Amino acid sequence: MTRAGGVSPPNPTPPMPPAQHMTRTFFIKTYGCQMNVHDSERMASAMAAKGYAEVDRPDRADVVVLNTCHIREKAAEKVYSELGRLKPLKTANPKLKIAVAGCVAQAEGAEIARRAPAVDIVVGPQACHRLPDMADADGAEGPLIDTEFPKEDKFDHFPPRARRAPSAFLTVQEGCDKFCAFCVVPYTRGAEVSRPAARLLAEAADLARNGAVEITLLGQNVNAWRGAGPDGGVWSLARLIREMAAIDGLQRLRYTTSHPNDMTDDLAAAHAEVPELMPFLHLPVQSGSDGVLKAMNRRHTAEDYIRSIERVRAARPDMAISGDFITGFPGETEADFQETLALAREVGYAQAFSFKYSPRPGTPAADADADAAGVPEEEKADRLARLQALLAEQRMAFQRSTVGRALPVLIEKPGRTAGQMTGRSPWLQSVHFDCDPSRIGRIVDVAITGAGPNSLAGAVCG
Ligand code: 5AD
Ligand code: SF4
Repeated sequence: MTRAGGVSPPNPTPPMPPAQHMTRTFFIKTYGCQMNVHDSERMASAMAAKGYAEVDRPDRADVVVLNTCHIREKAAEKVYSELGRLKPLKTANPKLKIAVAGCVAQAEGAEIARRAPAVDIVVGPQACHRLPDMADADGAEGPLIDTEFPKEDKFDHFPPRARRAPSAFLTVQEGCDKFCAFCVVPYTRGAEVSRPAARLLAEAADLARNGAVEITLLGQNVNAWRGAGPDGGVWSLARLIREMAAIDGLQRLRYTTSHPNDMTDDLAAAHAEVPELMPFLHLPVQSGSDGVLKAMNRRHTAEDYIRSIERVRAARPDMAISGDFITGFPGETEADFQETLALAREVGYAQAFSFKYSPRPGTPAADADADAAGVPEEEKADRLARLQALLAEQRMAFQRSTVGRALPVLIEKPGRTAGQMTGRSPWLQSVHFDCDPSRIGRIVDVAITGAGPNSLAGAVCG
């Protein structure tokens, strides 16, 4: 950990005794992916263990944490707008500490402090277990910055989780070695590191003991997970899934995000053999054009991608597919884009995320040559609109296909209206229905009566 300006490391002040009238408070706002959502949960537990209480508004907090995303320019810029909005709070309360965590912190480090002097703490994703110590440190000499990639596994340093929920995340792997030409992740999250199987199984058993019914295994490239097995061998994700499925109480397993090149036969077979493994696969493709895929350094063709999906669908015919797409990558022509539409038509997505290409500093695609081949902004937007229209149609068709069926739904939390509960279908669809809150954490059959783009409505059977 360093101070901007090269000042020596801080002297953490001892935590104050927890007393009702002087309980310190924190507020976390999370941007971006599920890895960030999970990191935020863990930072919240770590702050709670230090005696801080979580509040739901920044103006009630002693420490405000923005857990940020750097994936596209818009995501990164949101942080600076939010910091602008926080400035009056800092003026009103100079003791307020503002922390920027996550991938913008990692990528921009001291630059943040320059652009936003109100920031007291900058902490990267791999060092975020150190947030509470940084929050306790005296910040009078300028911002504290920690963008190290420490050798230790941050998850070994977080306290047990504070929140008990029927559905939990478990980070099995961090970082990425794929280096897609457009992507900042290999730089912000670092090299791919797989956590050892024994720890993951112990954590999963612990989650199950505390009421988790469903676990989602998280990794930037989760299907490339290769972890040390307790037997001294190297395990694949499929092996880990098989072992985890045997844990008492765990009824559902999911994993995200996957790369087409790591969609092995072994993993496809797990979908056939492990009933706990849900029939939903998020498999980004980015483009349907081989030329664009090559320029993106994806190292697979459109055909390879389709074959991967055929393999998992052969193993599990009811598999729903989700994807990510980018429109307007440098050099993408209308004909390339037509191939993307054709691929989407062939796959038939249950849901998908799609974005305009956003050049990111430090990535190969953002260099001067690529810029010269840049697709005009209006063209990017027009292609995105056409792709999104097709994906929305596919999404709606998928949603409608469940109406009239009874689906097993994991009841997760109260819904928006009184008496209503919200849960998830096997295909990750939100389902709303009336039910007693005492059934949270159970899987019940729900007869689906209506479908919208974002959720289903239904009634509990029997
Ligand atoms: N521009 C646009 N979209 C991007 N993504 C990643 N980097 C960029 C970028 N520079 C998208 C990809 C990825 C998802 C997480 O974000 O589709 O799969
Ligand atoms: Fe980024 Fe590609 Fe790695 Fe996904 S696989 S995190 S898109 S570099």
